[in-house]
Amino acid sequence: LRKPLLVGNWKMNKLIADVQTFCTEFGRQEDVTAQVSCMIAPTYLGLQTAAKLAAQSRLGVVSQNVHHEKSGAFTGEISIQMLADIGVRASIVGHSERRQFFGETDQSVALKTRALLNANFLAITCVGETQAERQSGKTFEVVSRQLSAVLNLIEYSDNFSIAYEPVWAIGTGLNATPEQAQEVHAFIRKTLSEKFGKAGADKTRILYGGSVKSSNIQGLYAQPCIDGALVGGASLDPQEFWKIGSTIAGTKK
Ligand code: 13P
Repeated sequence: LRKPLLVGNWKMNKLIADVQTFCTEFGRQEDVTAQVSCMIAPTYLGLQTAAKLAAQSRLGVVSQNVHHEKSGAFTGEISIQMLADIGVRASIVGHSERRQFFGETDQSVALKTRALLNANFLAITCVGETQAERQSGKTFEVVSRQLSAVLNLIEYSDNFSIAYEPVWAIGTGLNATPEQAQEVHAFIRKTLSEKFGKAGADKTRILYGGSVKSSNIQGLYAQPCIDGALVGGASLDPQEFWKIGSTIAGTKK
């Protein structure tokens, strides 16, 4: 029903030569991309190199962020058209690090998501609660608020996907259990069905992110509402990243 999607978010890591090495190494592994779409998100500066190598590495290329306006006086920002210009057609938006350190809000994330979908880009929109929010029983309230802001501005699109990343599981080695992740993914799918109907919700991919590695992906991906992963640390190594992809490819739902 939903082709799984695996995205490596490199954050502020790797130089251009490293992009080249990664793509070459990944391209040497057995091809799993018929079963799992695999994509990497290098920094803005690494995108063009990755895009040029995409055909031979079989890796799609994703931006880590984008500005919602087409052009203008926005010092330090990159537009969707600029990404398209170098062969990029996808972006992550609303990552918790952008919300936490760079002042992104539910509204800015919604504007970015809408701009991406209008430009026929794949949008990977991140949501997720902090540890304090989970401990005070606010997980669903927070995810619902983040998601509603986006859903209020968009219509159904095959290009829309969501990444559920509990902030307490990012870079901590503490992944959500498959059951904890599934519970929130099921809630997200129910929320999607209220907006898009069951057919639209059933087609939308919901990725899990937070300390995913080849040793824990199987249990997570086996869950009915988990359609892939957004991976940080473990995506920096081409063998490990490929292993996550091949484990997904071999996991029966
Ligand atoms: P880690 O996989 O390093 O926990 O990071 C997750 C993440 O933030 C991916 O976007």
